[in-house]
Amino acid sequence: MIKFLSKTNGLLGETAIVRLDFNTEDDWRMRTSVPTLKFLLKRNCKILVVSHKGRPKGKDKKLSLVKNARKLSSFLGRPVKFIPSFDFKAIKEILADAAPGTVFVLENIRFLKEEYENSQVLAKNLASLGDFYVNEGFPISHRKDASVAAITRFLPSYGGFQMEKEIRNLSLVMKNPKRPLLIILGGGKAGDKLGLLKFFERKADKFLIGGEPANTLLWIKGVDIGDSIAEKDNRDAFAPLLKFRKLILPNDYHIRSERILDIGPETEEVFASLISKARTVIWNGPVGLFEEKGFEKGSMRVAQAIVSNKKCFSLAGGGETVMFLRKYGFFDKFSFVSTGGGAMLEFLAGEKLPGIEALEHSRR
Ligand code: 3PG
Repeated sequence: MIKFLSKTNGLLGETAIVRLDFNTEDDWRMRTSVPTLKFLLKRNCKILVVSHKGRPKGKDKKLSLVKNARKLSSFLGRPVKFIPSFDFKAIKEILADAAPGTVFVLENIRFLKEEYENSQVLAKNLASLGDFYVNEGFPISHRKDASVAAITRFLPSYGGFQMEKEIRNLSLVMKNPKRPLLIILGGGKAGDKLGLLKFFERKADKFLIGGEPANTLLWIKGVDIGDSIAEKDNRDAFAPLLKFRKLILPNDYHIRSERILDIGPETEEVFASLISKARTVIWNGPVGLFEEKGFEKGSMRVAQAIVSNKKCFSLAGGGETVMFLRKYGFFDKFSFVSTGGGAMLEFLAGEKLPGIEALEHSRR
């Protein structure tokens, strides 16, 4: 059983090690961690934030978290100190000398290769800096990394407020979705969406497909997709999906320079009409290249149809989808927007996320 921070009473310890995920262009993931941090501050804890950015191989100045520390300070309305090195003995002393309520951000933990290796030694070193651990990094919880998984062996560990919301909302649509359940998949990284398609094969009523997953399936069907992006080397994995009768592929498109860049008006109608009858919608990946003017229309229509359906529980997630929702003002109109990209897809594919499993079996 996961211990959630929201269910704790009294003191948990002097110093909290809090795993966050700063791996987004904008700061909205950071924003979602504020309630957890404020909760700990109210309890007079010292906080050491551990996070990553990018996939560095060794130290990389461009991926330093120094600016993130400044940003976090503006969200918390108090100074946040940045720790640029991994000298654990020295960090321990800095923490010991700090006043209660001091917040620190450690440099990008992925500068250490041991992070990727789920190293017990690194986990133990990190754990030695605090009295308890909080995972508030749902988006990184599909990675078996030292500051996500191994660390829970050495410290009493808790799930943060956003982590709790993620697990509750994603579990709800998996276990007990109101029907009709509609799944909308678009964007890039088509292969990453296969697990979810398979998991929901029986449970979902319809799959509305756009973006790269649609191009890939259209190409397998023999449609001329020109130079459109498609996962052509993943043919064997995608081909069986064409047998799904629940799959709705676009039948008209907006094309530029031989590339399909959005769904066309007829497809928009089909999608919008199905969405208007849904009781649950899961959306991952815009159905067009919304970043370019003129190719946002399909995703706009999809989003409008979702938010106008007041009886529908709407869940969205993934980097591009979140960018789209924020850009066009739909973000706050969804029932739940997951902070996870790959983590959300894996969770919704029924996989056990190492970070969540680790919390379940953490040191008591
Ligand atoms: C994410 O942004 O999805 C997470 O931070 C995981 O990043 P990764 O794919 O580089 O492990």
